[in-house]
Amino acid sequence: MRAALATALGLLSAAGVADHAVVETPTPRRTGPVQRDRCGAALTAQLEKDVASPIEDAMKKADEAYKCNAYLCRGYQLEDNLEGVQTVKAGDVLDFQIDLIAGHHPGYANVSVVDLATNQVIGEPLRSWADWPDSTSGPPRNDIDFNITLPDSLRSACDVAGKCAIQWYWWASKNRQTYESCVDFYLEQ
Ligand SMILES: *[C@@H]1O[C@H](CO)[C@@H](O)[C@H](O)[C@H]1NC(C)=O
Ligand SMILES: *[C@@H]1O[C@H](CO)[C@@H](O)[C@H](O)[C@H]1NC(C)=O
Repeated sequence: MRAALATALGLLSAAGVADHAVVETPTPRRTGPVQRDRCGAALTAQLEKDVASPIEDAMKKADEAYKCNAYLCRGYQLEDNLEGVQTVKAGDVLDFQIDLIAGHHPGYANVSVVDLATNQVIGEPLRSWADWPDSTSGPPRNDIDFNITLPDSLRSACDVAGKCAIQWYWWASKNRQTYESCVDFYLEQ
């Protein structure tokens, strides 16, 4: 009995505990009918069961209806989030808050501006952390409570809504899990 329990516990810890984190502020992209259409209902339901869950868990549910890229903005679609597009000026500072629910497996994180048509990062990351989460910073902790400044160099690349998003990205390297949130924006000209 005791051996069986020990084995069960051993298996549990070997399977690992999932990490969980999601951007809370600014309000990030969410799901909607266009995502269900492009990513499939099963994968979308798995993402939505826990909005802070790793993308890899949802990918296990990818079926023939999966026609999006879940690794771009968690598969959340611009069309479902048109009301959330932020209008900003070059030089504006945006405050970010991350809801870090569980961070057992450190990795690295960054915040980058992504070209939504090509899924390429434009320029340098706006922020990057070689070790994330970092509970030793702050207060306020600069891993979960920080700001970014949108540089003037993005002015032409991000001149209209739908071209660019700010993507927060955490790679928990030990258990190989990806966490992402996106904030759509464009720069007022
Ligand atoms: C930053 O995040 C991207 C995903 O958007 C990732 O592919 C890249 O390796 C990261 N870069 C750095 C320098 O950590
Ligand atoms: C942005 O964060 C830095 C600390 O990293 C802080 O010194 C600065 O005051 C913040 N800027 C704004 C406008 O909140």
